[in-house]
Amino acid sequence: MIRGLHHVGIAVQNLEKATQAYQALGLVVEKVETVASEQVRVAFLPVGETHIELLEPTTPTSPVARFLEKRGPGVHHLCFLVDDVGEAMAAAKGSGLVLLSESPRVGAGGSRVCFIHPKSVGGVLVELWQDDHA
Ligand code: CO
Repeated sequence: MIRGLHHVGIAVQNLEKATQAYQALGLVVEKVETVASEQVRVAFLPVGETHIELLEPTTPTSPVARFLEKRGPGVHHLCFLVDDVGEAMAAAKGSGLVLLSESPRVGAGGSRVCFIHPKSVGGVLVELWQDDHA
């Protein structure tokens, strides 16, 4: 069901500053975009087969803004690549995991995504990602 680790999401206060830090480590920004459904601006930086996703809230009510208030900047979620997000959601739900939405949402790059409650996965917020062309 899971094809790989698509990205590690990191909550940041300032996308430009955070991006500079990762660029100093030698990473390169692949793209920056605003994801309306999650009220965030994100930067993707490839690392081998996976990516770092930096997330900056665009509104005070964004889930990432609330995360920053509670826990400060840092690792926010893990995202797994799946072939079919609907199937992956049904399987997760069937196994008793709590999904944060009943149907997939539109994520970065036109992907179809769903989040699983951190309480279901040992305190880690998990995102399931289906590429838009899949
Ligand atoms: Co993500």
